[in-house]
Amino acid sequence: MHTLSREEEALRAFIGEESETSLERLRRFRELMVRYSCAVREVRTKFEVLNEELTYRAGRNPIESIVSRIKEPMSIVGKLQRLGMPLTVDAIAESLNDVAGIRVVCSFIDDIYRVAEMLARQDDITVVAVKDYIKKPKLNGYRSYHMIVEVPVFFSESTQVMRVEIQLRTVAMDFWASLEHSMKYKKESADRPEIAAELKSCAEVIAATDARMQNVRLRIEALEKQSEA
Ligand code: GTP
Ligand code: MG
Repeated sequence: MHTLSREEEALRAFIGEESETSLERLRRFRELMVRYSCAVREVRTKFEVLNEELTYRAGRNPIESIVSRIKEPMSIVGKLQRLGMPLTVDAIAESLNDVAGIRVVCSFIDDIYRVAEMLARQDDITVVAVKDYIKKPKLNGYRSYHMIVEVPVFFSESTQVMRVEIQLRTVAMDFWASLEHSMKYKKESADRPEIAAELKSCAEVIAATDARMQNVRLRIEALEKQSEA
């Protein structure tokens, strides 16, 4: 119910073009959202396949969880307006990279780079952009590995190449980003310098712990190898 009325609100913003009836625009908007939702499913499946295979091979799962979402119609309108783009269905596909989003939460930092590289190597995946906020964290302390990829989706009468935003992070990075996000969006005072500094310091402690956890795993693996030999 709630989403329907928000969708209607957003759709109202698209209505009013001379060249096209509002019904036709509504149909094209819905169709585009279906395409994004299918694209997200394709990419999710790719990560699930990698996770299953790697779990079988190594006896541990590199991926802890995957969540995906399609951007809310109101957020799509808001972003187009911020970018100064026209509120048209074509502008969504052309200008927005994050209508389809998928978040892959990994166990360890090296798992992120492994699965990201494995995905990038797949024949049907084109990497459009990468932002490595792990090697270069944001000033506020945010860490994650971001990729924009294009994936073809095979429909009944055509093949559509769709863009998907992928965020890869460790469980620890996800913990920080989730809480930082929820606090930032609720309160103005979350911007105060002393609070920002404390959040950044938490991010650094978390990053150090991530590195230590990975080292523990590597030491265990090395010991296991020794005892096997
Ligand atoms: P957006 O316009 O927000 O999509 O940013 P962008 O196009 O510059 O892309 P960027 O890769 O920097 O960020 C994309 C997404 O990463 C955001 O929509 C958030 O989901 C996440 N993100 C980026 N920065 C932060 C941050 O400081 N805190 C949290 N919690 N999430 C962030
Ligand atoms: Mg975004």
